[in-house]
Amino acid sequence: MVPLKRRKTNSNSAGGVDVGVTKFPDVVIFLLERRMGASRKSFLTGLGRRKGFRVEECYSQCVTHVVSENNSGDEVRDWLEAQTPAGGRTGVSPYQLDISWYTESMGMGRPVDIQDRHQLQVRAEPRPIAMVTTLNGYACQRRTPLQHHNAVLTDALLVLAEKAEFSENEGRSVALRAASVLKALPHTVINMENLQGLPCLGEHSQRVIKEILEDGKSREVEAALHSEQYQAMKALTGIFGVGVKTADRWFREGLRHPSDVASSGHRLNHTQQAGIQHYDDLNMPVTKAEADAIGQIVKEAVQAVLPGAEIILTGGFRRGKPTGHDVDFLITHPEEGKEEGLMPKVVSWLEARGLLLYQKTNRNSYLEATEGSARPPNNMDRFERSFSIFRLDMPGAGPERHPQAALLEQAQDDSSVGGRRVGESWDWKAVRVDLVVTPFSQFAFALLGWTGSQLFERELRRWAGQEKHMSLSSHALYDSKQKRYLRASCEEEIFAHLGLEFIPPCERNA
Ligand code: UTP
Ligand code: MN
Repeated sequence: MVPLKRRKTNSNSAGGVDVGVTKFPDVVIFLLERRMGASRKSFLTGLGRRKGFRVEECYSQCVTHVVSENNSGDEVRDWLEAQTPAGGRTGVSPYQLDISWYTESMGMGRPVDIQDRHQLQVRAEPRPIAMVTTLNGYACQRRTPLQHHNAVLTDALLVLAEKAEFSENEGRSVALRAASVLKALPHTVINMENLQGLPCLGEHSQRVIKEILEDGKSREVEAALHSEQYQAMKALTGIFGVGVKTADRWFREGLRHPSDVASSGHRLNHTQQAGIQHYDDLNMPVTKAEADAIGQIVKEAVQAVLPGAEIILTGGFRRGKPTGHDVDFLITHPEEGKEEGLMPKVVSWLEARGLLLYQKTNRNSYLEATEGSARPPNNMDRFERSFSIFRLDMPGAGPERHPQAALLEQAQDDSSVGGRRVGESWDWKAVRVDLVVTPFSQFAFALLGWTGSQLFERELRRWAGQEKHMSLSSHALYDSKQKRYLRASCEEEIFAHLGLEFIPPCERNA
C-alpha cells in the first residue's frame, strides 16, 4: 500500500474524476455553471484537470479565479456576494474572468497573463441587498450553499431539531425545514420583517428566532444544551450502532456516557461493541484529505477485484463539505451485471490487508418487478452495502492529532473505551465508511440519493409524491399516472423528469 504522504499529491482523484497532478498551485479555478450548463462545466473541468490546472467542484474561499461564460460582471459579482456571508469575506476577491481566459490558458497549457479583455467589467454600484426575499416551499426547489448567512439562527434550530429527535416527536422535521429556509436566504436576517412571506417558518421557529434577534440567545435552546438528558442522549447516540430508542432506554437506566455503557455489563451487538471501542475516533470529524486517502484505497481494492469498476465519493463531501462524520462511496461497473458479487471480494481484499476494523454487509434486496409504486418502508434502500470502519494509517501522527488525545491517553485506564490501549501509538485512525454497490442502470438514482443532504432527499421524495404523483428512491423513479418507470443516466435527467431545475451538489446543502 502506498503510504498516505505519497498518495497525497494525487489525493483529489477520489470521486471517480481523473484529475492528474496540480501544476499551478497558486491558481485555483472555479467554473460558474450558470449559463454554462452542467455538462459543459464538467467537460471543461476535466480538460483543465488533465492539463494540470486545479479546478474546484465547489466555490470556496480558496478560489482565486472565477470563470464564467455569457454572464455580466454585475451578475458574477452578485453571485459571488451570495456565496460568502458578509462577515466571512476575507477582502481579497477572486479574479472574475471570461471563458476566453480559460480557453486561451488551455491552449497554452499554462495560465495566461490576465488582460483587460479577460476581466469582466462591473458597472453598477453594489446594490443594497434585498432584505425581503421569496423562496419556494420545497428545499429541492432552492439553492442552498454550504456557507450561508444565518448560522446563529440555524445552529439554534438544529439544537431544537435534535432535542425533538431525542424525545421522538415530529418537531424535528419542522425545525429542520425552518433552518433550511434560513440557509437558502441570500442575506442575514436582522429583524422579523425579513421573514415575511417565507415558507416553513411556524410559530415555534419564529418565537425562537425573535428571541435570538432581541436577546442574542434563546432560553429554550440554552436549556436544552445544558440539560442532562440532551447531553447524555447526544453522547449515547454518538455510539455507532446506537439509535434514539436504545439511547433513551439506557438514559432511563441511569447511563450517561459510553464509558457507563462499557462498564454496565449490557449485552452489546458487534456494531455497538465496535462503536464503543472506537468512540473517540468516530466522533472526530473526517477531513477531506482523509476521505481522499480512503478513496485511493477503495479504488485500489475495487480495481484489483474487478477491473473497469468505478468508484465515486458521495455524501457530504460531494456537496463540498470540508469534513464529515463518515465517508460514502458508490461503486458500479459500466457493464450491467458485472457488479454482482463485487462486495464480498472488495471486503476480503481489504480484510486481508488489515484495513478493516469492522464491517457488516447487507445483501442487495431490490427487485424492480415486485416494487411497483410501493415504496420501501422509511425509504431504506436495498443496495448491497457494507457499513464499515476503516483503519486509516496516519504515519507520523502523534497524540497531538486531536487536542483531546493526550488527555484521553492519561485518563484512559479503562482500555475498553477508545480503541487504543494506554501507550499504544496514534498513527492510525478509525473512520466510518459506507460502501454501496449499484447496478449501472440505477447509478444516477443512487448518486442523487446518496449525495444528500438528508433533508434535500426527503424534500425530493415529498415533491415527487405530492406534486408529481411519482415515487422516487435511490433505485428508481416510478410514475404512478403512466404506471411505468422513468429511466435516467444522469442526475440532470432525474431533475427533468421531476420538473425541477437542476441543482448542483454544492447547492444541495439544505
Ligand atoms: P450521511 O448520513 O453520510 O450524511 O448520508 P452526509 O450528508 O454525508 O453528512 P456527514 O458529513 O456524513 O454527516 C449521505 C446521504 O446518503 C443517504 C442520506 O439520505 C444522505 O442523503 N443515505 C444514508 C441513504 O440513502 N441511505 C442510508 O441508509 C443512509
Ligand atoms: Mn456521509
